Amino acid sequence: MYNLHVAIIMDGNGRWAQRRGLPRTAGHIEGAKAVNEVVETAARAGIRALTLYAFSADNWGRPNTEVAALMRLLRRYLMTETGRCIEQSIRINIIGRRDRLSQSLVHAIEQSERLTASCTGMHLRIAVDYSAQYSIVEAARRAGADLDVDSNRFQELLDEVDHSAAPAGAVDLLIRTGAEKRLSDFLLWQCAYAELFFADCMWPEFGESGLRAALDYYAARQRRFGKVAEAGS
Ligand code: FPP
Repeated sequence: MYNLHVAIIMDGNGRWAQRRGLPRTAGHIEGAKAVNEVVETAARAGIRALTLYAFSADNWGRPNTEVAALMRLLRRYLMTETGRCIEQSIRINIIGRRDRLSQSLVHAIEQSERLTASCTGMHLRIAVDYSAQYSIVEAARRAGADLDVDSNRFQELLDEVDHSAAPAGAVDLLIRTGAEKRLSDFLLWQCAYAELFFADCMWPEFGESGLRAALDYYAARQRRFGKVAEAGS
């Protein structure tokens, strides 16, 4: 069992498709299938919280057809997978802004969250229209003149801004696929002490074996949180 919060930047769908002479949207469709495999593996492994970066605030700048395809895939994912999540007691939560999403997507989000609200297994968080910088600025604005705000209170404000239904806390392991090594405005506050795992494969190729490799990597890390190692460890 892993009492872990794992976050994943699912990069490389476009390149996966282009290398096969397919449109980028075909890569996202394959990427959504990969989501199923990784969610099931993570739940079976006993991971406490899994946060997937599905659509960043900056992704609105992609061509309209690609944005529309991603939004369709997200809605379809929620509509088809919520039942399976209930069977596995997975709680679904979409984090990020909602004011720029279509009504039908917001409706699907609210329905999935309501139907899985009492699930006590893994907490599956999908980041949509998410920007860590936006969340931090907005939480700071809400903190206002509160001189007593400490990092725990600030985290609560972030959860509020992000529509995080239950606190997921700090990220223990951040994974990025797609052979790039950057954070792309994802969970910047929560990743303060995250271990980082970068995979060279594209997201549709990551799957169960990729997640297992990342968890093995994590298990071999010694986490010191800025302190020194304890004697004997
Ligand atoms: C980044 O790859 C990936 C995205 C912007 C979208 C991620 C979406 C999915 C995996 C599918 C939908 C998600 C769910 C939860 C159903 P990229 O397109 O930037 O790849 P590239 O760097 O090769 O162009």
